[in-house]
Amino acid sequence: MSGIEKSMAQYVKDHPSLKYIFFGGKGGVGKTVMAGVNAMWFAKQGRRTMLASTNPVHSLSGLLNQNVFGQPTAVTGVPNLWAYEIDTKETIERSKVEIKNKIQWFLKFAEISTQADAFVESATMNPAFEESAMFENMIDLMFKNEYDVYVFDTAPTANARRLLGMSKVYSLWVNKMMKSREEAKSLREMLSFTKKKEADPLMDYLISFRDRMAHAQKLLTDEQLTAFFFVTLPEALPIAVIKRFINWFHDFGIPVGGVLVNMLIQKDQVNAGSPEFVRNRVAMQDAYMEQIWTDFEGGVRAIIPLLDDEVRGTPALGNVAQYVFA
Ligand SMILES: Nc1ncnc2c1ncn2[C@@H]1O[C@H](COP(=O)(O)OP(=O)(O)O)[C@@H](O)[C@H]1O
Ligand SMILES: [Mg+2]
Repeated sequence: MSGIEKSMAQYVKDHPSLKYIFFGGKGGVGKTVMAGVNAMWFAKQGRRTMLASTNPVHSLSGLLNQNVFGQPTAVTGVPNLWAYEIDTKETIERSKVEIKNKIQWFLKFAEISTQADAFVESATMNPAFEESAMFENMIDLMFKNEYDVYVFDTAPTANARRLLGMSKVYSLWVNKMMKSREEAKSLREMLSFTKKKEADPLMDYLISFRDRMAHAQKLLTDEQLTAFFFVTLPEALPIAVIKRFINWFHDFGIPVGGVLVNMLIQKDQVNAGSPEFVRNRVAMQDAYMEQIWTDFEGGVRAIIPLLDDEVRGTPALGNVAQYVFA
């Protein structure tokens, strides 16, 4: 069946407690623009809205024509809207120091005479470390709970899925770690003469970490609170990318809000006299629209035309909103 069964406007109406909104898809399809449009729309409904980017390659300042790096910044001319590009580098440096302290404590505890530096290097050189720093930044912002709505402009690759899927992996991992720590600890207590309880900062850390992850997972898998929207163009690759995403997200129990189709050439602008190049592109888009209606049956929430200019600044975002919330 072709045609929008449930629009973005209707989806949002049906989910009045929607609070955490994400945009995923291939690079360049318009995720940042859609995040901006949605954040502005929620702000206009009178809800205190945070438009945030955890991606180390930021684009919100460029989108808004305003520097929003490093701290939540009120968006000029839009009441109730704040934007924030989170400084991932700083988080990574901070985590490095924390991890070093923990490893040093552990080495001392286990009476291993090795420098912590080698461990810290190998733990933090990993690309997954940057992702987990991004994830931590995201949930920190969510847990502070200072806004009514959070719109996240996510990373363009598989990172987004991994970022969210990680909460599940984290809790599995931490539970295992805790179990072996408990065993090691009771053995140590049995062997020691003094019966007094030892302080165990590593255990305390693992427990608080597991609880944070469990909390994050609870919020991110709640269909009333969270929705992930996928942006595509009527083209093969972006469609393939989001099909994969949607399957992954279903596996992780993360609510999929639907699909936004961006940059569709408006037919009423094209006729037999239009350049062949344009007519060919329209034919190509027609074919992929057919595929979109079948592949994402009932899931398309909006179609946004290809505009004659890039989308920058809040007036331009307001203009795109008429299509997203048509
Ligand atoms: N409907 C549209 N019409 C014309 N240009 C668009 C449209 N949507 C997005 N753009 C432009 O396309 C480029 C990529 O959009 P962006 O939101 O940065 O993509 P992403 O975040 O997915 O990489 C930007 O220059 C943006 O202004
Ligand atoms: Mg972007």
